[in-house]
Amino acid sequence: MTKRYAVVLAAGQGTRMKSKLYKVLHPVCGKPMVEHVIDEVSSLQLHKIVTIIGHGAELVKSTLGERSEYALQEQQLGTAHAVMQASTQLKEEKGTTLVICGDTPLITSQTMEELLKHHEETNAKATILTAHAEDPTGYGRIIRQSNGDVKRIVEHKDATEEERKVQEINTGTYCFDNEALFQALSQVSNDNVQGEYYLPDVIEILKNAGETVSAYQTERFEETLGVNDRVALSQAEKIMRERINKKHMVNGVSIIDPSNTYISAEAVIGPDSIIYPGTTLTGNTAIGNDCIIGPNTEIKDCTVGDRTTIRQSVAHQSFIGSDVAIGPFAHIRPDSQIHDEVKIGNFVEIKKAVFGKGSKASHLSYIGDANVGSDVNLGCGSITVNYDGKNKYQTVIEDGAFIGCNSNLIAPVTVGKNAYVAAGSTITNNVPEEALSIARARQTNKEDYARRLKRKE
Ligand code: UD1
Ligand code: CA
Repeated sequence: MTKRYAVVLAAGQGTRMKSKLYKVLHPVCGKPMVEHVIDEVSSLQLHKIVTIIGHGAELVKSTLGERSEYALQEQQLGTAHAVMQASTQLKEEKGTTLVICGDTPLITSQTMEELLKHHEETNAKATILTAHAEDPTGYGRIIRQSNGDVKRIVEHKDATEEERKVQEINTGTYCFDNEALFQALSQVSNDNVQGEYYLPDVIEILKNAGETVSAYQTERFEETLGVNDRVALSQAEKIMRERINKKHMVNGVSIIDPSNTYISAEAVIGPDSIIYPGTTLTGNTAIGNDCIIGPNTEIKDCTVGDRTTIRQSVAHQSFIGSDVAIGPFAHIRPDSQIHDEVKIGNFVEIKKAVFGKGSKASHLSYIGDANVGSDVNLGCGSITVNYDGKNKYQTVIEDGAFIGCNSNLIAPVTVGKNAYVAAGSTITNNVPEEALSIARARQTNKEDYARRLKRKE
C-alpha cells in the first residue's frame, strides 16, 4: 500500500483575526482550530504528520503534543515556503502527502479519505480538494481548460474580473505525490500581488511539466470554510455546534433548542438526558443517562451520574453523582464531590466540599472547604466560616448531623455523628457525637416594657 503523510500548515499569525491569540489556536466549540484538524487527520492512520509552526510555535506544540512532528517556519513567506520546511522529515519519502491548512477546522476525515482515494485511483501527481461556493470572495479559484482539466489556481487578489466570477474554490487541502511535490516546490516564485510563495502554484508547475493534476469536488462546502477573521470564526462555530448537537440527538439525547445549546467537542452525554435552552457544557464534561440539564446552566469539566437534575446553575471541575438535584441558582465551585441523592437547593454555594450520600443543603448556604458526611441536613443559611483573612480551614460534619437554620460553623471545627446544632448558633468548638449544641444568646422577655416606655413620654 502507498505510504501516506500529512503536512498541516499552522505558522501564520492570522492578522485578520486582530487578536493576541495566534489564529490556529482560536477555539471552535472550545477546541483550537488546529486541534480539530489534527484530530481528523490522526484518524486517517498516516505514517507521519508534520505540523508547520511559526507564530506561537511553542503554544501550538504544547496544544498538539505528540500527535504530530514539527517543522519551524521562521519567516512566513507563504504556503509553499511553509510546506518546504517539512523537507527534513519528508523529502526522501515515497508516497502520498496530504496538505491541509490549520484554519479549516470543519474538514472531516471522511472528506480527506475520499480525496486520498480519488488521488491514488487517478494516479495524479496532485489533486486539489475543491468546492462550489455561493460567495467565493477571498478563496483561490480553480481555473480549468476548455476540456475541463484543471490548469492552475489563481488567488483572489491576483485574479482578473473574469477569473473572480469562478465559483469553484481551492479549499486549501491537497494530495500530492510526495516526490513531485518537493521537486515542484523548489520552482515556486513569489512573483505575485502578495509577494509570497504560493502552494497553489505547484499545480501549474506540475501541469506545465506534463503531469496529471486533478480536482476532487466535495458536495459539503460548509466543511471547507477557511477561518481568516472573526466573522468566519462565528460561522465555523455555528456549523460545528450544529454538528455536535446533531450527534448527541442521534445518540438519544433530547436537545430542546439546538440553536441555543452550546456543547464542547469533547463532552459526552448519555441517552434520555434532556438539555434545556441556554445550557453550555464545556471542556471534559460527561453527563450520564436520564439527566435533566438547564435551562440556563453552565457546566465545565464535570462528571455527572444518572438521573441527576441541574437547573439554572453553574458547576465547574466537580464530580456530581446520580439522583442528585441541584438548583435552581446553585453554584458548585471546583474540587467538589457531590455524592448520590444529594440535594443542593437555591442560592447555595459549594466550594471544595464533599457531600456524602443523601445530604441536603436546600436553601441559602455557603459550604466551602468542608467534608459533609451522609444524610446530613444543613438548614437554611448554614455557613462554614472557612477563612480568617489569611488561611482557609476545614469543617467536618459527620453522618446524620442536623445543622439548624442560620448557623455559623467557625472552622476548623467538627460536628460529630448525629449531633444537632440549634438554629442561630455560632459554633466555635467541636460538637460531640449525638449531642445538641446551642450557641446563641438566651432570649429574655421584659414584660410590659413597651407600655412603660410610652408612659415616660
Ligand atoms: C489559502 C490559499 C487559497 C485557498 C484558501 C482556503 C494560498 C496562497 N492560498 O488562502 O487558495 O482558497 O487558503 O482556505 O495558499 N501559513 C503558514 N505559513 C505561511 C503562510 C500561511 O503556515 O507562510 C498557514 C496559515 O497559518 C494558515 C494556512 O497556511 O493556516 C493558510 O494561510 P492563509 O494565509 O490563511 O491563506 P488564505 O489566504 O486563506
Ligand atoms: Ca485561510
